[in-house]
Amino acid sequence: MRNVPPRNLIDVDDVSPSELIALIDRATVFNQTVPPRDLLAGIPVLNLFFESSTRTATSFTLAEQRVGADVISFAPGASSLGKGETIADTAITLSAIGVRVIVVRHHESGFPRRLAESFDGHVINAGDGTHAHPTQALLDLMTLREHAGRLEGLRVAIVGDIQHSRVARSNIVGMGMLGVKVTLVGPRTLLPDSFESDHVRIERDLDAVLPHVDAIMMLRIQRERITSGLLPSLDDYTRRFQLNPARLARLSKDAIILHPGPYNRGVELTDEVLDDPRSRYVVQVHNGVFVRMAVLEFLINSARVTA
Ligand code: CP
Repeated sequence: MRNVPPRNLIDVDDVSPSELIALIDRATVFNQTVPPRDLLAGIPVLNLFFESSTRTATSFTLAEQRVGADVISFAPGASSLGKGETIADTAITLSAIGVRVIVVRHHESGFPRRLAESFDGHVINAGDGTHAHPTQALLDLMTLREHAGRLEGLRVAIVGDIQHSRVARSNIVGMGMLGVKVTLVGPRTLLPDSFESDHVRIERDLDAVLPHVDAIMMLRIQRERITSGLLPSLDDYTRRFQLNPARLARLSKDAIILHPGPYNRGVELTDEVLDDPRSRYVVQVHNGVFVRMAVLEFLINSARVTA
């Protein structure tokens, strides 16, 4: 047995395309069969959420319990970071206590990476600033594949406040790795031209995109991150980018509608969207538990590799 450096999941590209598929496969198995509860028996996992969360925090806790980990709940407001302790010293302290995995959400882009640099264990990014949210992208990919039976060649539109969305960024990375064609839709202030790349195109007219996609992912406007001037008129935004009954009629009957949550009814979507049979919001949330079980198992097993 040899020691290998601990692997982390800071963004989707911390795993290879084949590992990404293997994670989705494993999550699918977890969704179909009840795994033995001792998969990660006795592994101490710390949840460190500096920013609010309903879906991610709850599903990580449940995932950790289902694989038998020792779950440590910690209110970061009470941490010694508030007394001036550095991230590095906090990381060293937590490894010395015996924590093997830290699941961290932070309002600052790059915080999980900095924590990982000093932590002798695995760090899972549960969302950092506008940077990345890899387990959200994984559950979105799982939901897409569950519907279409494949990922390669699918056409997905991501609509709304792309600029401030870590979900969009991680999905762009993950979809690029697996051959999904991405169209980003939004106003120039929330979707700069710089997002365009080999597999990503930009479109400003949502109505033109709707008939031609296999899935549409609606994003909320991140008011807490928007500086003044970026969204001059909410009325204009909803007129151009809201998914509503008229636009549902333009969307292919075989397409699905994704939303990472939390959603704002009456802004990026209307009530009818959530009631539409093509909506997969509930499935996404459901899949989140299995994806997180798969990620926990993958990282811990990666440290058990033999020479
Ligand atoms: N999708 C998502 O990250 O939701 P929460 O903020 O509730 O975790």
